[in-house]
Amino acid sequence: METFREYDELFKEDQETKDNKFRKIWKNPNSIDMQNSRKRCLRRFGTLLVTITTFLGVLLIIYYGVSSSNQIAESQETPCSGDPCLHNGTCTVLGNSFNCACVDGYNGIHCEETPCSWDSCLNNGTCTVLGNSFNCACVDGYNGTQCEETPCSRDPCLYNGTCTVLGNSFSCACLDGYNGTQCEETPCFRDPCLHNGTCTVLGNSFNCACVDGYNGTRCEEAPCSRDPCLHNGTCTVLGNSFNCACVDGYNGTQCEGC
Ligand SMILES: *[C@@H]1O[C@H](CO)[C@@H](O)[C@H](O)[C@H]1NC(C)=O
Ligand SMILES: *[C@@H]1O[C@H](CO)[C@@H](O)[C@H](O)[C@H]1NC(C)=O
Ligand SMILES: *[C@@H]1O[C@H](CO)[C@@H](O)[C@H](O)[C@H]1NC(C)=O
Ligand SMILES: *[C@@H]1O[C@H](CO)[C@@H](O)[C@H](O)[C@H]1NC(C)=O
Ligand SMILES: *[C@@H]1O[C@H](CO)[C@@H](O)[C@H](O)[C@H]1NC(C)=O
Ligand SMILES: *[C@@H]1O[C@H](CO)[C@@H](O)[C@H](O)[C@H]1NC(C)=O
Ligand SMILES: *[C@@H]1O[C@H](CO)[C@@H](O)[C@H](O)[C@H]1NC(C)=O
Ligand SMILES: *[C@@H]1O[C@H](CO)[C@@H](O)[C@H](O)[C@H]1NC(C)=O
Ligand SMILES: *[C@@H]1O[C@H](CO)[C@@H](O)[C@H](O)[C@H]1NC(C)=O
Repeated sequence: METFREYDELFKEDQETKDNKFRKIWKNPNSIDMQNSRKRCLRRFGTLLVTITTFLGVLLIIYYGVSSSNQIAESQETPCSGDPCLHNGTCTVLGNSFNCACVDGYNGIHCEETPCSWDSCLNNGTCTVLGNSFNCACVDGYNGTQCEETPCSRDPCLYNGTCTVLGNSFSCACLDGYNGTQCEETPCFRDPCLHNGTCTVLGNSFNCACVDGYNGTRCEEAPCSRDPCLHNGTCTVLGNSFNCACVDGYNGTQCEGC
């Protein structure tokens, strides 16, 4: 009673705020209503506390359950877990990363480079991986492991002809005096030397070495060519010379006599 009154006095001196009023009533041990209300309130508070504690406990259990299962999963996952090495490469953990030991013919961090990855087949050849190597299917006219042989590779143009690739074949630009698909026709090709003359290529032309009795650029002048038989005599080639058959009344080597 005494204490209460003292408080009462104190509070009276204060400007009685609602809060203070409540506290005053709450602290009044003589109010039965207040006592009951206080008990009820404490009980409710207790229940609430138990509920919250239980809830937090459950949360805690769930949290640790999940995190521990994560830890198990994490401990099983290595830098090699996702099979980062392609084409049968062997993965090795290297610190917090990985290293791929590639099979022969393969390259790259992930062994992603195959034997066909670089420009293995030239000239539009089609690359196929063949074991640890490659195979090139070349387009027509091309040959070689990498289709490196073009239609001009074997120098098909003779006598200094200039080769040009033309589709899957070639074209020869021949020197003057030369002809043919491969410039195989030289100035002597068509046997320009007559009467067994011997042809020799001379620059872009030819030279004929004629047999005895024959003359001319192409040995076209034979022993009878200049009509050596006079007075209608008939000329016949005889070896490297001529013979005249004279008409009646004429005689001599060239039918010059009477
Ligand atoms: C990888 O191994 C498989 C099975 O042995 C095989 O068929 C395949 O050709 C191999 N690949 C390479 C790039 O070595
Ligand atoms: C390769 O293909 C390109 C494009 O189609 C073409 O221009 C080129 O002439 C081809 N080369 C050969 C050697 O076939
Ligand atoms: C390619 O090889 C074939 C067969 O050996 C041959 O007939 C052809 O002339 C070659 N072509 C070239 C451009 O080397
Ligand atoms: C081709 O060129 C070579 C070297 O320049 C030369 O010696 C040769 O006489 C030339 N052949 C012809 C047919 O022009
Ligand atoms: C080459 O061919 C052309 C045209 O067919 C011809 O006029 C020329 O005489 C030929 N030359 C030789 C050396 O065969
Ligand atoms: C050319 O040679 C042939 C064969 O050897 C011979 O029969 C012919 O008489 C010769 N002609 C000349 C003009 O020498
Ligand atoms: C060929 O030329 C030589 C030298 O010029 C001459 O002596 C000879 O009579 C000529 N022969 C013919 C068949 O023209
Ligand atoms: C040669 O033949 C021609 C034409 O047949 C003739 O006119 C001439 O008289 C003849 N000369 C001699 C010498 O027989
Ligand atoms: C050439 O003719 C003359 C006169 O007709 C004659 O005497 C001489 O025997 C003849 N010679 C020959 C080689 O036939």
